[in-house]
Amino acid sequence: MATKKSEHKTIKIFDTTLRDGEQSPGASMTISEKLRIASQLVKLKVDVIEAGFPIASEGDFEAVKKIAQTIKGPEIAGLCRSSFKDIDRAWEALQYAGDRGRIHTFIATSDIHMKYKLKMSPKEVLESAVKAVKRAKSYTPNVEFSCEDAVRTEIKFLAEIVGAVIDAGATVVNIPDTVGYTIPFEYFNIIKYLKDNVANVENATISVHCHNDLGLSVANSIAAVQAGAGQVECTINGIGERAGNCSLEEFVMAIKTRPDILPFKTNVASEHLTPASRLLTTVTGIVVQPNKAIVGANAFAHEAGIHQHGMLMDKTTYEIMTPESVGLKSSSLVLGKHSGRHAFKKRLEELGYDLDDEKLNQAFERFKALADLKKEVFDEDLDALVADEIMRAHEVYKLSHITVTCGSFAVATATVQMEIEGNPVRTAELGDGPVDATLKAIKKLTKTKAKLQQYNVGSITGGTDAQGEVNVRLAEGSRTVIGKGSSTDIIEASAKAYIDALNKLHFKVERPMESL
Ligand code: KIV
Ligand code: ZN
Repeated sequence: MATKKSEHKTIKIFDTTLRDGEQSPGASMTISEKLRIASQLVKLKVDVIEAGFPIASEGDFEAVKKIAQTIKGPEIAGLCRSSFKDIDRAWEALQYAGDRGRIHTFIATSDIHMKYKLKMSPKEVLESAVKAVKRAKSYTPNVEFSCEDAVRTEIKFLAEIVGAVIDAGATVVNIPDTVGYTIPFEYFNIIKYLKDNVANVENATISVHCHNDLGLSVANSIAAVQAGAGQVECTINGIGERAGNCSLEEFVMAIKTRPDILPFKTNVASEHLTPASRLLTTVTGIVVQPNKAIVGANAFAHEAGIHQHGMLMDKTTYEIMTPESVGLKSSSLVLGKHSGRHAFKKRLEELGYDLDDEKLNQAFERFKALADLKKEVFDEDLDALVADEIMRAHEVYKLSHITVTCGSFAVATATVQMEIEGNPVRTAELGDGPVDATLKAIKKLTKTKAKLQQYNVGSITGGTDAQGEVNVRLAEGSRTVIGKGSSTDIIEASAKAYIDALNKLHFKVERPMESL
């Protein structure tokens, strides 16, 4: 018999976009970018924000500390291995969140990881886990422990370690599918086994953390809550290590859309999902595939005539949730060249941007310039505009002008003028087409050794006056970054994307540790 909605169990949403999500290639974020994402996560009303991995780098430490100091509402977690040094460093950053600060410590428990990675016996791993939890407990009552690679861990050992860390004081115990290997019924059985066989299991919340290597992370997370898990770890747009993590928006909307068979709820304010997804894309440059569930450009688009006919009769024919419920507003003309500052500010606020006066003025000037070039300014244009012109945190390199000559009978030539740390510099280069010539000129001016790994060009909105959007991926040593640029001129968009990536590379702190 279906339970009443009021009796549905609340599943805690633990967002790890800023930690596991940031481990996606090219997704590293500056502190100010992390703060913007964290503020959006507050609007979403997630229960926990995992802000980073404090010992991994100075940048990570500062980001976790800043988020702990400034973000109000959700609990703030920081990841650490089970060594005391890691745990102490994590609390140093997290302490500012007071009783909302959560130490998240972990050690691998599968035979494969213990033997090849840790070179430790199960007994040593168990002891290390218990000591880690006790150390964390000396700082805060709020301690989460994760059994890395839990799904490939011998089940009796898994139950033993879960019981031991709960005895040591862990209030949340996470059972990750680190390598995205499990399938729903198997994962259900693992969680159920722990629920049925660990004597003190009710003293802690069982959490799940699913990677998406087989495309099953959301399905596995749903199976886990059906078996009794009370927390789901996930990321916006499903970003994360390799194929990513359980997508927050997909899990939340599955729970919200099927209360008839899933007796659960979350605290998430789903109308903030689309702005959150867009903001993350803007910040990282990692685009969402058009057919991605919930937040893809086509998720609510109806193309086939028969579908459109049904939709006109009654939207429920082809829509299982409303676009409004995920914060999607129709992307019709929102602003044009006659729009005032007030309307512009209001629209930006609706899109999730809260700019101070100075940044707003700069953005408004850019908007006016864009509105002169384009008849219609869409929400997506505004996203790109804010990202491009306002969110550049630390610009060492700035583009001043480009002049290009090209054509079927001419060798493409680009003359580029830039500022490097405030000093004007200029050069010209020939190239295999205007983009090649422009990037060569920038390369020469900046003396960069970075390798261009990827160059993608697309249009943000329709029409020949659409803004072109360019994404580039640059690599230097172990560092990779994604740069984004947009303009109605595709050459300028390319130059901006390249320079954006160079600025990011310049500021990216080398991570001293291998990512997890
Ligand atoms: O995937 C994983 O196992 C992790 C843990 C550290 C929680 O990210
Ligand atoms: Zn993970």
